[in-house]
Amino acid sequence: MGRPRPLLSRLAIAAGLLLCAGAPVRAGAADGVAPFGPARTAGSPTGMVVAATSQAAAAGAAALSAGGNAVDAAVAAAFALAVTYPEAGNLAGGGFLVVRQRDGEVLALDFRETAPAAIRSSSFLGPDGKVVEGASTRTGLAVATPGTVRGLEAVHRRLGKLPWKSLVAASARLAREGFPVTAGLAKHLVSERAVFAPHPESLRLYFPGGRPLAEGALLVQPELAGTLDAIAERGSDAFHDGPVARRIAEFVRSEGGGLTAEDLRAYRPVWRKAFSFDFGRWRLHTMPLPSSGGFLLASILGQLSRVGWTPAMLETAEGAHLVVEAERRAYAERNRWLGDADVVDVPLGKLLAPGHLDVLARSIDRAKATPSAGIDGGLGGPAERPETTHLSVATADGEAVSLTYTLNGVFGNGSIVPGVGVLLNNEMDDFAVAPGRPNLFGLVQGTQNAVRPGARPLSSMTPLIVLEDGALRFVLGSPGGSTIPTTVLQVFLRAGPGGRPLAEAVAGVRLHHQHLPDVVDVERDFPAGTAKGLRSMGHVVKGREPIGMVHAVERAPDGLLTGAADPRGPGVPAAPPVRQAPR
Ligand code: DON
Repeated sequence: MGRPRPLLSRLAIAAGLLLCAGAPVRAGAADGVAPFGPARTAGSPTGMVVAATSQAAAAGAAALSAGGNAVDAAVAAAFALAVTYPEAGNLAGGGFLVVRQRDGEVLALDFRETAPAAIRSSSFLGPDGKVVEGASTRTGLAVATPGTVRGLEAVHRRLGKLPWKSLVAASARLAREGFPVTAGLAKHLVSERAVFAPHPESLRLYFPGGRPLAEGALLVQPELAGTLDAIAERGSDAFHDGPVARRIAEFVRSEGGGLTAEDLRAYRPVWRKAFSFDFGRWRLHTMPLPSSGGFLLASILGQLSRVGWTPAMLETAEGAHLVVEAERRAYAERNRWLGDADVVDVPLGKLLAPGHLDVLARSIDRAKATPSAGIDGGLGGPAERPETTHLSVATADGEAVSLTYTLNGVFGNGSIVPGVGVLLNNEMDDFAVAPGRPNLFGLVQGTQNAVRPGARPLSSMTPLIVLEDGALRFVLGSPGGSTIPTTVLQVFLRAGPGGRPLAEAVAGVRLHHQHLPDVVDVERDFPAGTAKGLRSMGHVVKGREPIGMVHAVERAPDGLLTGAADPRGPGVPAAPPVRQAPR
């Protein structure tokens, strides 16, 4: 159980008062460090949505107050993000969601992009047999077959309550009428200008008159509005089939890619059994393959439970060392063995077998770092700026949706399809385009994750739902590429076994290790004593920031909800208005 909240804060939550929007509840993590300040929080006795923009959180909250369920809220918020958060919100990307229904049933939906039928690993090689720089991130070849629109439709068809049209039409309006550019988006347009430079349609929209849209300028997207109108009317076929699909395919071909209208038409999301396991009295529900998130959490937590990790070790060098060593081993296996289990054989059972976890745990030296080179060979590499987005929804009666979706790189491959108004993904880079060569996230992966027609690239996205003693407790997830599972892990360890309020766990300082490069990444203000302790055990500790951007909801045993948006990003919690009881 979490530490009891201060009385005042509980009363405020019970009264449904919005505690956020510039009025942070806490000054920072109590005994940890909150390098980016406090999380933005809000309380509600009924429902909560946390997303990257105020419009998306509000769209989700509006769906809840219109009588919709958590799925309606997530669908409305995801469409609003496609309009208001072009960095990662999308129609032409893909993702995962885990949903918990009121009766406790948990389902997982995979709407991850797939490799177009005509693309092979060799498509990315030049005449010299070497990978063409940027081919998997900046060209038409980077574009994988999108899954978002089919995915949102699939979850809504199965579990939604409100009319589809009403959920999508609100975002079409937002695209048509425009919304004021946020400080964050204005900054990203400037910092990512090079990404847009080869793409006239993107320049026309984001750099009118050659100048980047400034904070407060209205971003109006009539083409995107038209596409959303069509989706509102005719469902996902309006995107995946017919004129829109043909325009997307023609455009991608003109940019040197191989995506066809048939790839778009044939795309299907897949309902999967959630990846579920226990850690003490906590039950974790997250994504199975092609996300590596479930495997990584289970392997790391399985190792920690075997090396005697306890919550008292949180924020100590000893605890950080054990976490890093478990991460190192789990990521080495991820990169070597994991891929799309529908297409290649993945020995997941062996990797997570108790005996194997015993072996991994025994190989951890409690006092000394194990060099990654001793576990597996390979190279590390630099990372470009990535972006993904996560949204969390929970209701007092125990419904939850944890949804992470992405274009992969920030603004995907940077191109907007003329007449359609959507940014295209560069998800092909999540494959091991050339096994052994580091990708955008510095991940060094093997042939299990090579490009195969129709396969889904291995992902790190880890939408998570956590129960405590059988009751819904936390909903969370994050962007951050390869750092997603370790971000989610640290928030869980602090808020779950560590007993901290979720908002503090979200704000707390983070570290990350992914086997290769053999470095412990730490954020600013990482406690000097812990870093010194890690170095004395032989770890290379390097600054990097920020790590992740968590959007989370905590549900107290009495059903009260607290939304927490990471101070590392622009996210916002929103709740449906509390109805006053008639006097
Ligand atoms: O699926 C994955 O693992 C990546 N495409 C996620 C990209 C990402 O998180 C970028 N965000 N910061």
